[in-house]
Amino acid sequence: MVNSNVEGVEQSVSTGTLPGWEQVDSLVAASHDRNRGCKDGAVADYIPVLAQADPELFGVCVVEVDGGVHVTGDADVEFSIQSISKAFVYALVCEEFGHAAMADLVGVNNTGLAFNSVIAIELNDGHPMNPMVNAGALATTALMPGSAPDKQWDAIHSGLSAFAGRDLVLDEVVYRSEAVTNTRNRAIARLLESYGRIGRDPLEVVDVYTKQCSLRVSARDLAIMGATLADGGVNPVTGKRVVSAEVCRDTLAVLAANGLYERSGEWLFEIGLPGKSGVSGGLLTVSPGKAGIGAFSPRLDPAGNSVRGQQATAYLSRVLGLNIFASQAYAPNESRGY
Ligand code: DON
Repeated sequence: MVNSNVEGVEQSVSTGTLPGWEQVDSLVAASHDRNRGCKDGAVADYIPVLAQADPELFGVCVVEVDGGVHVTGDADVEFSIQSISKAFVYALVCEEFGHAAMADLVGVNNTGLAFNSVIAIELNDGHPMNPMVNAGALATTALMPGSAPDKQWDAIHSGLSAFAGRDLVLDEVVYRSEAVTNTRNRAIARLLESYGRIGRDPLEVVDVYTKQCSLRVSARDLAIMGATLADGGVNPVTGKRVVSAEVCRDTLAVLAANGLYERSGEWLFEIGLPGKSGVSGGLLTVSPGKAGIGAFSPRLDPAGNSVRGQQATAYLSRVLGLNIFASQAYAPNESRGY
């Protein structure tokens, strides 16, 4: 779509175009075929119910900014969105508070540490570092408009549903499993409180955050949500605007720097796109101006990122010419399997 607010300037939000429909379709299928045999990584078990996930599930979906959908494998199997919710709650809160306030309140820099690090807060004088790790995500959820936690939850639920273009459902089993075991997130919220960095009851914020992580999505949903960010904030399937183009730009910058936690640098080096992972095995990637990619495969690397999701996305980034630092499509890295 055309997207500019500079007077006299009309240009597309990014460079280049995707290959033709059939070529994208066959490359999406190939991203699955090439990586389906990989058994590397392990299913998350620190949230007890996640340990029951079927490790063989593997789905990939690409949604183009014109609304075209390419699916392969288990792209319609649902799982809890987990940390990928952080990207969309951040976008919703950015819409309210704007660029400068969000940089000040939540930060944008990588911690270089695990997603649930406590020491990252201490090392930064009690300030959260960025909204894609738990401390910054809790601070962001606390900023969500709403007079009470249930109003905040309603706004998050309807906002993430607008990104997906359908009414997303809360997975009560996942929510309860995490709610009774999330002592670490409660500690992080209390620590933020001690530094005056969380403006609401910390345990109520953790509860809303746990609910946002428990929304059920599929790889197809993630691709549509990503395509909405790729399309400057307009959901290409429903045609409805969800957030502004400025908010998409800020969200994608934060994802590029922080979306895969302490492996974000390696991800940007290999894949060259903003992305966000979740411990259920979901992986969202955005090619600005072109497409959203959703992948799902529950086995994770040590940082909590889906192994086959990364492999399939790396392959697509290369062969579809999506890497924002590359001037043309390039060959897959056979030695790494993608
Ligand atoms: O806060 C947690 O621990 C989970 N609800 C989400 C963590 C997560 O998805 C980290 N991702 N890779």
